[in-house]
Amino acid sequence: MRNKIVAGNWKMNNTLEQGVTLASEIVNMVANELTDDVKMVLCTPYIHLSSVSKIIGDAEKISLGAQNCNDNLKGAYTGEISVDMLKSVGVEYVILGHSERREYYGESNEFLAGKVNTVIEAGLTPIFCCGETLETRERGAHFDFVTNQLTESLFHLSVENFSKIVIAYEPIWAIGTGVTASKEQAQEMHEKLRAHIAKKYGTEIADGTSILYGGSCNPKNAADLFAQKDIDGGLIGGASLKSRDFVDIGKSY
Ligand code: 13P
Repeated sequence: MRNKIVAGNWKMNNTLEQGVTLASEIVNMVANELTDDVKMVLCTPYIHLSSVSKIIGDAEKISLGAQNCNDNLKGAYTGEISVDMLKSVGVEYVILGHSERREYYGESNEFLAGKVNTVIEAGLTPIFCCGETLETRERGAHFDFVTNQLTESLFHLSVENFSKIVIAYEPIWAIGTGVTASKEQAQEMHEKLRAHIAKKYGTEIADGTSILYGGSCNPKNAADLFAQKDIDGGLIGGASLKSRDFVDIGKSY
């Protein structure tokens, strides 16, 4: 059985005070309301991690995540954050290859392959993002494009290390736009990705890989998406900034 995960990507939002309030609300609601076997992950800005870690404490259904890290372990990389620093404040998950990092900071598949190694070697879990632009989908190249992102950034991994990866399919045209992929479109891509993984690593590993959907996921559409057989949860942007919405998404299974 693969894990069901609902992760919130706060992106560059919230002052520390606002983030602490949001995290406290989520932790309380999850403790009182979440009955299903779902893992919620809060991927906050770096500056919030230490405080949010204390708020999460030993809450069972919530983990802490970062939105990025540096590919080097330490040294003269001004302004950067290492995996050891993340671990020292209780981080367990790291989002890698978000389309915003690919687009604004030039992160390529090859560069991300190195970051994936750094994160796995540190014992952290990468949430590896993939997804196509509208232009790529319209010319019918979306399956090749997204499966290639996996091939180039992940398929150098050993079976053991690949089994530690969480994947998030985030069609770029659905991110922050209010336009969600239909459940059929999302399921179709997730199925393709799982088949692609199976071809390389075998069905057992593919069946055990959590593949999350991201892109305008909200409390209204989450249940339909999560009901698809290859969708194992969500990576949530805007709706993760509202405690009620985020927890309701977690309860959508
Ligand atoms: P939205 O949920 O705001 O569309 O963002 C999705 C996303 O980019 C999560 O990483």
